[in-house]
Amino acid sequence: MDTYEKIIGLAKRRGFLWNSFELYGGTAGFYDYGPLGATMKRRIEDIWRDLYVIGEGFYEIETPTIGIEPIFVASGHVHGFSDPMTVCSGCDFAFRADHLIEGIVEVPDTLSAPEIKQLIDEHGIKCPQCGGIGTFGEVFDFNLMFRTTVGPGTQRVGYLRPETAQGMFINFDRLFRFYREKIPFGVTQIGKAYRNEISPRQGVIRLREFTQAEAEIFINPRDKNHPKFSTVSNTVLRCYPASHQQNDSGSDDAGNDHAYGVVELIAGDAVDRGIIAHEFLAYHLVLTNIFLIRAGIDPARLRFRQHQPDEMAHYAADCWDAEVLTDRFGWVELVGIADRTDYDLSSHAEHSKRDLSVVLEYETPEQVERIVVKPDMSMIGPLYKEKAGKVLAALKNLKEEDLKGDEIDIKVDGDEIWIPHDMVEYETVTEEVRGEDVIPHVIEPSFGIDRIIYAVLEHSFAEELVGNETRSVLRLPAEVAPVQVAVLPLLTREELIDPAIKIVDMLRKSGIFVSYDDAGTIGRRYRRNDEIGTPFSVTIDYDTLDDDTVTIRDRDSMAQIRVPTVELAEKVHAMMREQI
Ligand code: ATP
Ligand code: GLY
Repeated sequence: MDTYEKIIGLAKRRGFLWNSFELYGGTAGFYDYGPLGATMKRRIEDIWRDLYVIGEGFYEIETPTIGIEPIFVASGHVHGFSDPMTVCSGCDFAFRADHLIEGIVEVPDTLSAPEIKQLIDEHGIKCPQCGGIGTFGEVFDFNLMFRTTVGPGTQRVGYLRPETAQGMFINFDRLFRFYREKIPFGVTQIGKAYRNEISPRQGVIRLREFTQAEAEIFINPRDKNHPKFSTVSNTVLRCYPASHQQNDSGSDDAGNDHAYGVVELIAGDAVDRGIIAHEFLAYHLVLTNIFLIRAGIDPARLRFRQHQPDEMAHYAADCWDAEVLTDRFGWVELVGIADRTDYDLSSHAEHSKRDLSVVLEYETPEQVERIVVKPDMSMIGPLYKEKAGKVLAALKNLKEEDLKGDEIDIKVDGDEIWIPHDMVEYETVTEEVRGEDVIPHVIEPSFGIDRIIYAVLEHSFAEELVGNETRSVLRLPAEVAPVQVAVLPLLTREELIDPAIKIVDMLRKSGIFVSYDDAGTIGRRYRRNDEIGTPFSVTIDYDTLDDDTVTIRDRDSMAQIRVPTVELAEKVHAMMREQI
């Protein structure tokens, strides 16, 4: 059994994750969160909110999970959001064609459909399902959005959103007013996203319905310095820059194979050396690092991988993925952090015909020289008759360099017209300009919550020998563990159960999530709680009846301390905050 099988087995058995629709045979790409999974998910989302909503002041919004077609035409999803697919004629199974050639070429997702087909044929790729060779059909682009129609009879096309981001972009003008017309500002959304993945055979790593937590930070395109960067610039990040990946996949200048690999970079240095494009992006790499480690990711199995130029979305200026090492799937992307430039807002402005630019006021107004063109209408009117209005408009739009030739060249209704200089006077005036119109750029950290949950489970999982028994333990951080305290009467006897129930009530009133368990031996109950990551167990025994004290057992060290019942809640809170 590999780690993945162990984790998924544990997750199913203990109520973290269940295959959806199991009663009716199930379908790949959907998972239910059971009682412990749903609680853990909420806790991870709350840590995210603590950092992004409270820590950064990025308000959270909630927009529909269905969007109408024009949104996704503008965003590029209708025409470009597809994966290459091929079907095996031997078994009728559909496959991600680029996944079939992974390992043969370095970045298979940059190849065209015919190029992938050629490689499949050349390398005689075997069907992973039926073992057939030469059975794959043409490779074609399969759009990953779930299509639907909105309203009865209207046949108005809609799509389940493939990312939460678009709901934030299309509210930009309202958000800008909400933030008192100042950039930078950030907005967040946690919610479901849907992608009709071609062959989701990786559990919660590749789902057809999943949860994203995304922040869209609208910034000044001329100033990508972050106001708080100095507070994080000394952070060490494990980075895998694009240049290292290129060298790793080939050889160095001297022709030697060279493994550059992951390097530890200080965030500030990485910006100064031009490895990370700018402070805003670096700041969000650091925040992502803080979040993932706080959620329970092992820092030694975490890296930030920069997209290679041919892998990056065409509009992105720089993009880094936070990836974690997993036992079965190797490096898996959990978070994408991108500078999306003005792509989204410009595209929505163009398609919606609404101006989404903002005025950036200069600190001090600037004096700017401008040419004022003054056409002589007493000559232009009689000469150009009904076209005179359009000629006038074209002349007024001229710039200084347009006025330099022997004659002035303009276009009216597609026709070129030459206007003699004596029909036009012009003068230079100086004007005060208070600011300029710009389309903000967007920095986007996009988190996949389900993948994070799986990775946290895998990274916190351990098996260790205790006596001659193996215990499985999830070393989850206390703020992530679904059950925070287990209350366990030593024996199933009324005289111990009564005080135990009182302790459960007392701890619950202090805001701690408690489970009560009196089934089986105390040893088995400890093991059960270790396996679901409960950080503390409180045992009520016969001494409790004499001196009103209880035992707190620490999950990781298995050490026990005795505390007076009146101090229990306070002690547990301090232990959860790691103050004890
Ligand atoms: P991949 O290349 O692995 O398909 P992606 O590059 O398409 O991922 P993004 O479009 O950047 O992913 O989405 C942002 C985040 O959403 C990802 O980092 C990931 O955590 C999550 N995500 C994307 N697709 C899925 C999916 N099918 N199932 C679960 N999480 C997903
Ligand atoms: N918003 C980034 C993505 O989901 O692709």
